[in-house]
Amino acid sequence: MSGAPARQGPATLPDAEVRARSVLKYRKRAAGYDATCGPTWPIRERTVAALRLQPGQRVLDVGCGTGLSLALLRDAVGESGLVFGFDQSPEMYASACARVTAAGWSNVLLYETPAQALRLPESVDALFFHYTHDILRSASAVSAVLACARPGAAVAVASIKYFPWWLAPLNPWVYLKNRGYNGAPGELRAPWDRIAPRLLDWHLTPVQFGMGYIGVGRVA
Ligand SMILES: C[S@@+](CC[C@H](N)C(=O)[O-])C[C@H]1O[C@@H](n2cnc3c(N)ncnc32)[C@H](O)[C@@H]1O
Repeated sequence: MSGAPARQGPATLPDAEVRARSVLKYRKRAAGYDATCGPTWPIRERTVAALRLQPGQRVLDVGCGTGLSLALLRDAVGESGLVFGFDQSPEMYASACARVTAAGWSNVLLYETPAQALRLPESVDALFFHYTHDILRSASAVSAVLACARPGAAVAVASIKYFPWWLAPLNPWVYLKNRGYNGAPGELRAPWDRIAPRLLDWHLTPVQFGMGYIGVGRVA
């Protein structure tokens, strides 16, 4: 992509600092988070569908936030499947746990942990990343998440990126939008470039006139 400013905020902050910034942001955002997700709901549904989940499979909701995707993922794997989810924000995690308790789902297991320290009791068949930019920009987080999946596992990633050149004047707005939600804003030209080289059959589809993307692949 071209047309984006040469430098757009901190690019390579240490993981600990990015994580601390993110935790603070979501402390403030958690209560109102769900109300902001309407415009990206069709992307969420498309990204779940891209995983082509089968009944009985195990799927991981990476940075699950308040758990907005859990029902979709659980519907796709059925009663015999398993949905894992994790988040580092205590407030977002608490919201996701409340959702699971209210629904009475016994096959949804949540963890309060940074992606960088993630360990699961069993390998998953699919990884779902929905608007988890900070996790995608951390090499150690990407490695830890990929290590939780079996070879050949399906991967679907959706998030924000810069517009293509013909809408580039809008990219400072994209940067500011991203900054509201992430500890490491910026790096929006190819935010998938830490995970895509680790996957097979990577395929990218722009969404939202190029301000978003859905990428799919398989764990090598
Ligand atoms: C934009 S929200 C997306 C939440 C959810 N995936 C959704 O689509 O509604 C990003 C989430 O990633 C979480 N997050 C950011 N960095 C993380 C990290 N290093 N480890 C775990 N969670 C992280 C945040 O706490 C936040 O809940």
